[in-house]
Amino acid sequence: MATGVAQRTKFLLDESQLPKRWYNIRADLPTAPQPVLHPGTGQPVGPDDLAPLFPMALIQQEVSEEPEIAIPEEILGILSLWRPTPLYRAHRLEQALGTRSRIFYKYEGVSPPGSHKPNTAVAQAYYNKQEGRTRLSTETGAGQWGSALSFACRLLGLECKVYMVKISYEQKPSRRSMIQAWGAEIVASPSTDTESGRAVLAEHPDSPGSLGIAISEAVEDAAGRPDTAYSLGSVLNHVLLHQTVIGQEAIAQMELADAYPDVVIGCVGGGSNFAGLAFPFLREKIAGREIDVLACEPAACPTLTRGVFAYDFGDTSKLTPLVAMHTLGHDFVPAPIHAGGLRYHGVAPLISQLVRDGLVRADAYLQNDVFASALTFAGSEGILPAPEAAHAIHGAMATAMAADEAGESKTILFNLSGHGHFDMSAYDKYLAGTLEDVALDEDEMARALRAIEGLPTPA
Ligand SMILES: Cc1ncc(COP(=O)(O)O)c(C=O)c1O
Repeated sequence: MATGVAQRTKFLLDESQLPKRWYNIRADLPTAPQPVLHPGTGQPVGPDDLAPLFPMALIQQEVSEEPEIAIPEEILGILSLWRPTPLYRAHRLEQALGTRSRIFYKYEGVSPPGSHKPNTAVAQAYYNKQEGRTRLSTETGAGQWGSALSFACRLLGLECKVYMVKISYEQKPSRRSMIQAWGAEIVASPSTDTESGRAVLAEHPDSPGSLGIAISEAVEDAAGRPDTAYSLGSVLNHVLLHQTVIGQEAIAQMELADAYPDVVIGCVGGGSNFAGLAFPFLREKIAGREIDVLACEPAACPTLTRGVFAYDFGDTSKLTPLVAMHTLGHDFVPAPIHAGGLRYHGVAPLISQLVRDGLVRADAYLQNDVFASALTFAGSEGILPAPEAAHAIHGAMATAMAADEAGESKTILFNLSGHGHFDMSAYDKYLAGTLEDVALDEDEMARALRAIEGLPTPA
């Protein structure tokens, strides 16, 4: 039987090939990012403004212009529990689609919590511990991030409190247990543990919660205790930085496959897995290489495709600094679709800037179409994907089919950011035919965008 590279399914790197440095796209951006503003003064925030919430090492990474930042040994040691992650050629999916294109995927679901999220959770827990913090607070949507931070805190000996968006808390009891198994304390958000949570409950006792609300609670928790720092699982520059091990590995693995992607695809909630895969390729695109880079989002929360680029708060209660990003408005509560990790009103400022500069494009999908693609994928490649990651699968399949229709053959690479083993209630609903398709309606969008009226305008 032929065993040439064209027949191979898995492209694996040795542990010694784990990237030793993170890639910082800020050094290469064609347009400088907009400054982060203090909501009270409207002036750019300085490191001291952020110090109550984050350790200095992460604040420095947030504003660093260095193209590469060394990864400390202790972090590499923990990452090597599951990294480098495999890259697959999706032969069987290609056959199922009958496509002329080649489809590859990078699989982040092999980490202990089941997604890309621990790539930054471990780094954040490490730097907080270095600077003497003993406890971290955070929000979680789908539960993947809460699991990842609970896991990282356990391995590094920190306490952890997780505010989990109520709808996911109810939909995913096993994620809850997983977070508790690694030792974190967990509460459904909006909760009565914080002023922000109590204010939302007073107005909307049945609120399903949102990432924006849960962030408010976690920030308030951290701001009120000197032993506690806040930890965010996406959006911020340093979080995206930590994820770039994904794309660096993928570049080496595509070389093993004797291939280079025409199209690089990821799903976008806050943007961290997308950035993790895409930024090292965008480095080459900015240097002149031709690559189509596609961000996939839900039609129920179409931040990049229909939101506006504006200064907005990262949370509902307006506790965070103002950042320039694509947003649907900070009090927007997305419909309770099953891709809980994609229900966020904003997106990473670095990705927003790249969309503005025409280096990244975006598309939005309805959840029944996404689940149909997830099952086609599971039926050929075997892996049952997280609903978030299934948006990238759907984007990759749509790209392959469009290429076929145009008589072209493309090399497509997407990020399979996590498995869906804790998302079975969503699959149950899809299989029972009771999953609702929700596209954001114009009136609700106009209402939500009124929340940003009067805030500073980006240059
Ligand atoms: C598996 C998975 N993929 C993607 C996301 C979206 O987050 P991000 O856009 O930061 O990658 C999440 C968020 O929870 C997730 O759990």
